Amino acid sequence: MGVYRVLARPLLFRADAEWVHDRAVRVAEAVGKVPAVCDAVAKHYGATDPRLAVEVAGMTMSSPIGLGAGFDKNGRAVAGLGALGFGHVEIGSVSVDRSDGNPRPRLFRLPSDEAIVVHYGVPNDGADAVAHRLHGRRNGVRLGINVVNTNRGIAASEHEVIDDYVRAVRRLQGHADYLCLNLSCPNTEDGQHFFLRRGRLELLLHALAEVGIERPVVLKVAPFARPAELDGFLTAVGGTEFVRGFSVNLPPGKPAGLAVPEKMPGAVSGRPAERAANRTIRELYAAVDRKRQVIVGSGGVFDADDAYRKIRLGASLVQLLTALVYRGPSVVREINRGLPELLSRDGFASVREAVGADVRT
Ligand SMILES: Cc1cc2nc3c(=O)[nH]c(=O)nc-3n(C[C@H](O)[C@H](O)[C@H](O)COP(=O)(O)O)c2cc1C
Repeated sequence: MGVYRVLARPLLFRADAEWVHDRAVRVAEAVGKVPAVCDAVAKHYGATDPRLAVEVAGMTMSSPIGLGAGFDKNGRAVAGLGALGFGHVEIGSVSVDRSDGNPRPRLFRLPSDEAIVVHYGVPNDGADAVAHRLHGRRNGVRLGINVVNTNRGIAASEHEVIDDYVRAVRRLQGHADYLCLNLSCPNTEDGQHFFLRRGRLELLLHALAEVGIERPVVLKVAPFARPAELDGFLTAVGGTEFVRGFSVNLPPGKPAGLAVPEKMPGAVSGRPAERAANRTIRELYAAVDRKRQVIVGSGGVFDADDAYRKIRLGASLVQLLTALVYRGPSVVREINRGLPELLSRDGFASVREAVGADVRT
């Protein structure tokens, strides 16, 4: 982290954020294409401590730490990113049709807050291209595919949105270890709240059940504004067999106290996202059916303490993204090294034992 922070980061931060992001994905893609290099990277960075191993929704993983959706949007660099020590890599969001996303610039760093303002609007190559790219992938790190509805820049009807998700899932599920449905809709009038409207989530889940879901499904939701929203959401999920977990998205708008121009669009990741994310993990853990459903926590994870806090609040898996930008690629190894020490300090033999330790009664 020292070298990255002192040498690489100051240079990278002089360039446009999206340009750097694209280059980083290309480097990881190049690493993944040369097995000898990828294996050497994995040897250096990989998670080996048995206390880190987790089993979630039938999937075994070498670490609970994963890469959040939005870094590798198109599944170009799964092998190279996996070599950094992640137990899973979530790609996407991918929609059934390709999309250019929002106009640029649409990604901004806030270095003093260790944050990023994201207004991508889910640009991606579309489900066919991503499925084609993943075809024949070597088994390695667990792969999650995050699915969203296509951003066409115009408001879509309820039927169109649901159909969009269903077609993308149908095309992509065979390539994934799990699916994550990003329920924040970029091209609907009510955006993040689209699926909080009564009946819509049931319609989506029903339509997916008819397709035949072959993979565990995680639903990615923004922090709930009121307890009634969470109750309504979980009631809609009900006993749907294939829903095996919930993941926390960025809250809409800007947390108070950030030095950003008032009109800058987008959501804020990194440190400022941590508080709402941790509250939501705690709320979800207290309310879900723990025998079947897990929580995937993300938002402001920069070190082992941050990851451990989310685990103790109820997260079985923890994702990060912004920390890669501020701390560099070795951040995953540092978390994987620090986590077992925190578990041992508190007398836990495994991650599983620590999940929800601060919430269980
Ligand atoms: C640049 C960027 C792009 C993102 N794109 C997506 C996306 O396409 N789909 C999604 O579900 N989440 C997306 N996210 C949210 C992340 O997956 C993650 O939930 C969030 O950033 C909180 O983690 P962090 O604070 O470690 O970044 C994005 C976040 C960032 C910073």
